[in-house]
Amino acid sequence: MSGELSLDFRGQGPLRGRTRVPGDKSISHRALLLGGLAEGTSTVTGLGDGDDIVRTRLALEMMGIEFSGDQIHGGRSRLREPERPLDMGNSGTGTRLLAGVLSSLPFLSVLIGDHSIHRRPMDRIAVPLREMGARIDGRDNGRLAPLVIRGGELHGIDYTPPMASAQVKSAILLAGLAANGETVIREAIATRRHTEEMMLLAGAAISTTPGPTDYVVRLAASELSPFSLDVPGDPSQAAFFVVAASLVAGSEVTVENVYVGPGRAGFLDVLLRMGADITLHECGPNAADILVRSAPLHATEIAGIEIPSLIDEVPILAVAAACAEGTTTIRDARELRVKESDRIATITSELGALGAIVRPTEDGLIIEGTGLSPRGAVHSHGVHRSAMARAIASLVGDATLTVHGFEAVSTSWPTFSRDLGALQ
Ligand code: S3P
Repeated sequence: MSGELSLDFRGQGPLRGRTRVPGDKSISHRALLLGGLAEGTSTVTGLGDGDDIVRTRLALEMMGIEFSGDQIHGGRSRLREPERPLDMGNSGTGTRLLAGVLSSLPFLSVLIGDHSIHRRPMDRIAVPLREMGARIDGRDNGRLAPLVIRGGELHGIDYTPPMASAQVKSAILLAGLAANGETVIREAIATRRHTEEMMLLAGAAISTTPGPTDYVVRLAASELSPFSLDVPGDPSQAAFFVVAASLVAGSEVTVENVYVGPGRAGFLDVLLRMGADITLHECGPNAADILVRSAPLHATEIAGIEIPSLIDEVPILAVAAACAEGTTTIRDARELRVKESDRIATITSELGALGAIVRPTEDGLIIEGTGLSPRGAVHSHGVHRSAMARAIASLVGDATLTVHGFEAVSTSWPTFSRDLGALQ
């Protein structure tokens, strides 16, 4: 795909039809890692096909795990010391979750990635993994990638992460699978639960006391059994089409088979609060077809315990807020500053370039619903969600918008433009 995309959807009319989005990225990473650890052959269909997922699969292949079609031929005993550094590209989830697995393996490994990965904080996983017994070093006193991990015998810990992060919880749980004694994680605000759900599926001795606050996970060392899984669609990707269909008058779109389980569907609650016309039709465990019709939106407040459940949807929710009546405030979202880019800064500058009035705060954004006038050229800054949010913004405009660096979408959704075009 070329690095520049000119988007000209003037007069293209409403979005209509049924569509699908790529398999959920969070579930796909975990399916590969747990399938790699489970002794035997697991079958996983519907994996996401973005670069992040490819990197996790390649890393496992470099350590001896074999893949054939939808099958993963896994087993802890198959895993070998990789000869070369494992290059995780742009993937924070892949890097941090794999670090958890590597901490429990009796060999040396090196995790590298692109320039964004080498700037993102890794101490959030390195600190608890070291506490469990892993030896982890890296740049800046072990805080930044490349990470050098010498794994081995671990012991369980009782840990309260200082930030709401499913990646931190998952890295510790993946290490805890092979740790002596119990691993306990206490979350002040519950984050997405894919790791817990999928470890249960693979027969791990894991239990949870659910609740939006004081959520506790307990895990004992476990050998995993092979499992079968069909990965549902990614709600973070569905959000782009849900917002697009809400904003473009006369639209009616169904996004099929989307994961709407705990910790991921916050963006739907927010859009419903804003007046969106959204109906869910359950189509499987924690999965639904999402029917959305265009509707006028009004402002809302987004804060507190719902933030982790929509942290990746803020760029597209900001587009919705700019087109809604009134002033939308987003608070308690400091984590946005340590994503692929500082999302508070990029949303402010990029939405500003599209004509919105946006004020950044330390932990969020204030967005005036004065509408967008996308025209001219903007840049994705290599961030997939920025590129896609710009594309959706262009739908509400009356001019051509050029997005430089549009190839960033390949991180999570290589066929995004084609799939959007098919709804027009
Ligand atoms: C993810 C957790 C979130 C999210 C990321 C995927 C996961 O990150 O932003 O895209 O799969 O666990 P944090 O855990 O850092 O909040």
